[in-house]
Amino acid sequence: MTTTAAVEALAGRLLVTGVEAMELANIYLGHTLGLYAVLADGPLTGAELAARAGLDERYVREWLQAQAVSGFVTVEAGKAYALAAGVREVLVDELSPAYLAPLGQCLASVGGVLPRLVEAFRTGEGVPYSEYGPDAVSAQAALNRPAYTNDLVATWLPALPELHARLSDAASPARVADLGCGAGWASIELAKAFPHLSIDGLDADEASIAHARRNAAAQGVGERIHFEVRDLTAPASGVAGYDLILLFECLHDMAYPDRVLRNVRRQTFDGGWVVVMDEAVDEELVAPSGDPVQRFFANASPLWCLPQGRPTPDADPVGTVMRPAALRTLAVEAGFTQVDVLPIEHPFWRFYRLR
Ligand SMILES: C[S@@+](CC[C@H](N)C(=O)[O-])C[C@H]1O[C@@H](n2cnc3c(N)ncnc32)[C@H](O)[C@@H]1O
Repeated sequence: MTTTAAVEALAGRLLVTGVEAMELANIYLGHTLGLYAVLADGPLTGAELAARAGLDERYVREWLQAQAVSGFVTVEAGKAYALAAGVREVLVDELSPAYLAPLGQCLASVGGVLPRLVEAFRTGEGVPYSEYGPDAVSAQAALNRPAYTNDLVATWLPALPELHARLSDAASPARVADLGCGAGWASIELAKAFPHLSIDGLDADEASIAHARRNAAAQGVGERIHFEVRDLTAPASGVAGYDLILLFECLHDMAYPDRVLRNVRRQTFDGGWVVVMDEAVDEELVAPSGDPVQRFFANASPLWCLPQGRPTPDADPVGTVMRPAALRTLAVEAGFTQVDVLPIEHPFWRFYRLR
């Protein structure tokens, strides 16, 4: 490509990036203010939508114009607006596999801490998860929930018959730990499917554990899961003998993943299962990458995972891009002898068993 063509291509690309960032900010407003949810009930005029959502009409009309231009709503006869095809699944239905409305909350959370990130790059310090604000915990939970609800019990476990049989054995109930459990959705799905299980959900973040307790109670399994605020880098405190330890999308976030894995090894039965679900990143650096999923992982890391995993500059989190070789090295250093990639296909995640 000539320099001029490269400049034109890049300028065109960045213009689209800027437009799409603004669209995502408007999606944040529509999601947070319940505008998509109200429109999902049927076409409305701007005045009707504002009234039903309890909002200022002038703002809502301007928002609707932007939504129509961007193609997220259609304009019907009589100036009524309706959701465009696909919007319900992507922006309203929280259990749809295509649900991505929480990306707007991620943008808002990152926007809020950008000045702190500038400072962090200078000092090497971290930006704690709690500083990303309430949208961060909600977004994290909501982005992963559809997979746990739709796939964990129906698809992932049946792909692992030995583990499935162990969890199904009501005569000898298995003990399960969901480490870095966040808002608890994986534990909740397990508790719903296998009522006899004993499940501990542990996470260092108080807000996440508060969400988890509320979610479990609302799903009718509040009595069957023990959620607790716990920093997993602290030495294991007398808890041992888990049949299954899950580390679902959290190991790469942890300040000292080596300590966590050493604790995990000590807490599992011989022959017990340790399952790590982490980002399905390329095995080696591919640059540039044409794959939007890989671009998402790489860009999320300096904005989200790395700063959250660095309470002090000496902490050494892996960051979002935890390549299989990096996990193998960590696992072997922690005393595991085998790392198997499990036969579960997912566009965002790779599953490993540590033995
Ligand atoms: C990306 S979130 C994933 C949450 C949940 N597993 C899910 O899939 O929705 C990572 C979680 O790891 C937790 N975490 C990070 N470091 C931790 C530590 N040292 N001890 C316990 N939890 C930790 C965070 O608080 C956060 O809830």
